[in-house]
Amino acid sequence: MKQRGASIYEQFCRTHPRSEALFRQAKTVIAGGLTHDIRHLHPFPIYVDRANASRKWDVDGHELIDYWVGHGALILGHGHPIVQQAIARQLDRGTHYGACHELEVRWAEQVLKLIPWADRVRFVGSGTEATLLAIRLARAATGRSKLIKFEGHFHGWHDYAAVAIRPPFERPVSAGVPHGAVADILICPPNDWDAFMNLASDRDDIAGVILEPAGGSCGTIPADHDFLKRLREFTRTQGVVLIFDEVISGFRLAPGGAAQRYGIYPDLTTLAKILAGGLPGGAVVGSAPIMDQLVFRDDQTWNREERVWHAGTFNANPLSAAAGVATLPLLADGQVQSVADRAGQALRNGVTEVIKTLGVDAAVYGESSIVNLFLQPHRHGLALDQPDSTLDHHLLMDHPNQEAYHRLRCALILHGVDFPLFHGWISAAHSDEDIEKTIRAFEAALRLMRDDDAL
Ligand SMILES: Cc1ncc(COP(=O)(O)O)c(C=O)c1O
Repeated sequence: MKQRGASIYEQFCRTHPRSEALFRQAKTVIAGGLTHDIRHLHPFPIYVDRANASRKWDVDGHELIDYWVGHGALILGHGHPIVQQAIARQLDRGTHYGACHELEVRWAEQVLKLIPWADRVRFVGSGTEATLLAIRLARAATGRSKLIKFEGHFHGWHDYAAVAIRPPFERPVSAGVPHGAVADILICPPNDWDAFMNLASDRDDIAGVILEPAGGSCGTIPADHDFLKRLREFTRTQGVVLIFDEVISGFRLAPGGAAQRYGIYPDLTTLAKILAGGLPGGAVVGSAPIMDQLVFRDDQTWNREERVWHAGTFNANPLSAAAGVATLPLLADGQVQSVADRAGQALRNGVTEVIKTLGVDAAVYGESSIVNLFLQPHRHGLALDQPDSTLDHHLLMDHPNQEAYHRLRCALILHGVDFPLFHGWISAAHSDEDIEKTIRAFEAALRLMRDDDAL
């Protein structure tokens, strides 16, 4: 990584010696020293010691306002007392029964209460597993193999989702992805109806269409709701399974997620993050005819040849179920989401003001309680003052000049804010004071960037 204008990095290294030492040790035992690619930070990641509400504290004793909030899982903030108590109660009763248990039934009931257009739930271990199962259900239901995926949309890290994330979209983002998996994925630019019809209209081998109706990666290129409506109509008439990946937007954009917010309902929805109240977990929800492919019947041919097979040691484990059951009722009336949305809007407005005042080349935008950050839009000819679905997603998803994002993240940490590289999440625990402090931190960090000639 280029070391232009090293003063931010110098300060960062000087003030985070324990994190630096831990990363040095980590690299000797953990592959790459990291457990999630998005946690990669130059010159090294910070190590966190504890967290509460909107804050976390690193091992060097710094207090940080947190905009990761569990990769978006903690819409109530860290350590919400009701969720904590539910986890503690369950901890005393056992963490894994290797058996069905009552909490998984209550959890499923609550999910369906918030997502009433779905008939059934199936729990899985993560968002990645949720999209994997949804794709299998779509293929089984239709007897077809192809899946349409949109450029720039993210659906976890399995092989069927490892393509069309960043430019060049036709190439997998990883080594080790078999050609056979990618060959079954048909790639379409987002929000482009003509391109979609060119791809889909004359084919009879499409099992499903998967997309983020809103969210993190999709939020980078806002979804066109008219496009979503047409997609719903087309897939319905063609017998193609429409999958909304609401791993981020589920329970966040509204109690019933983006589908409720936009009034557009898919056949299957994938969920994770908020679903499990900050513990590991995911789910697929959907219509009975598709979901009931998972049902055992008194018919060996069905069970062996036609049923959808699914396992997973930690599916609906009691701790995650307890956290989910404690969390979801708190989200049912939409109050939590409104509080987080208002904080999100205040942060976007405040940082936009700072960017204008400083005259730096940066933009923040987004929907609901998600804040997207883009550096150097003008240099790349992007009009992000009014972001819409026609933006050039090649440029947006490329995040040119990655070094600037790492440097800004370090500069923000120096000013008491931990904001992810490209988009951050707000929780209902973020107070007005947190937002104000964060705006001031952006001001100081962007000024440092400007003084370093980095923006
Ligand atoms: C839209 C979307 N789908 C799927 C996933 C994968 O979820 P997980 O990280 O739980 O595997 C993510 C993760 O961020 C996501 O944002």
